Amino acid sequence: MSRIFAQARFIIGALVLVVVVGAAPVSAQTQTPTQLNPTASSVKEDQLLQQMRIIDGRVSIPDKQSGNLEQPAGRDWREFHQKTLPWIAAIAILGVLAALVIFYLTRGMVKIERGRSGRVVVRFNALERFVHWMTATCFIILALSGLNITFGKSLLAPLIGLDAFAAWSQWAKYAHNYLSFPFTIGVVLILLLWITGNIPDKTDVEWVKRGGGIVGNDHPPARRFNAGQKLIYWIVILGGMASAITGYILMFPFYATGMEGMQTAQSIHGIVAALFIAVMLGHIYIGTIGMEGAFEAMGEGTVDENWARQHHALWLEEEKARTGPNQSQSQAAARAAATPAE
Ligand code: HEM
Repeated sequence: MSRIFAQARFIIGALVLVVVVGAAPVSAQTQTPTQLNPTASSVKEDQLLQQMRIIDGRVSIPDKQSGNLEQPAGRDWREFHQKTLPWIAAIAILGVLAALVIFYLTRGMVKIERGRSGRVVVRFNALERFVHWMTATCFIILALSGLNITFGKSLLAPLIGLDAFAAWSQWAKYAHNYLSFPFTIGVVLILLLWITGNIPDKTDVEWVKRGGGIVGNDHPPARRFNAGQKLIYWIVILGGMASAITGYILMFPFYATGMEGMQTAQSIHGIVAALFIAVMLGHIYIGTIGMEGAFEAMGEGTVDENWARQHHALWLEEEKARTGPNQSQSQAAARAAATPAE
């Protein structure tokens, strides 16, 4: 009799065990509104994600985010990063490049109409030129190393091979991270150095109405910076700050924000960078082949007086009033004034 009881106890115990063990995954499944068995081999990843909204598990390391395998927001972000952003960047950058080529072929270089006078005025001192070139150099390297993240895998890797691409990308990433610091300092210094000349005023309205001397052949008077330059200045300040803030959020992940914030920061960083690069192409164009006599302002620090009269008549008058009627200097004297003592 006692053997029959013992056997019955064993069978009941085994049944209870089977029910408890079997019920555990069933109750786990019923927490999500799904009829799918997530562990079934025929379940499609897409179906599973659609019904469960998120696929995550438990991890024993401190970083709980590492247990998060998949979530729809991650897919949206990947779609943005792999498709939308490259399209935005390609259209913005190639669009501006094409527009500049067409503009150059139809308008050509804006010449100094009266020719060079042989007298020059100081336009940018050594500190201003140093800050400009430091920021510009960092910008170009940041742009190339950043675009490598957007386009490198699809465009460059097939050309140079995976090993070379990996080595270059590693250096590009170091450059992007470390040059962000002098770039940020440069943007702050640009803000401080040139803000006084870049506050919009009523001469800008007139300048824009008259096409700014670039569209057509009019040369509306401007002070030290015309409306176009002021626009570039504020794009550099705001674009520089936006790329710096979002860039540091990416560089120090999860300190300031969570997963969604990281995705937003990356999206803003990518879009701002693409538009920033496109705008800067226009700036580089006008500073080099687009306008005669412009490059030397940042190269040597001086401009020809006829250039100054044509493009910045009010500034030239202000300079003459400030430094006296004989301020027009020989090239050598002005160059000495624009160069720091050794
Ligand atoms: C203080 C300034 C900046 C910081 C701290 C910074 C930082 C970063 C970081 C951490 C990333 C992500 C890299 C990765 O996914 O491994 C990134 C991506 C990128 N950066 Fe910057 N960056 C800065 C400025 C700039 C500037 C000025 C440009 C453009 C001229 C730029 C262009 C890009 C581009 C195109 C990407 C790739 C976007 C993508 O496809 O995901 N960055 N940046």
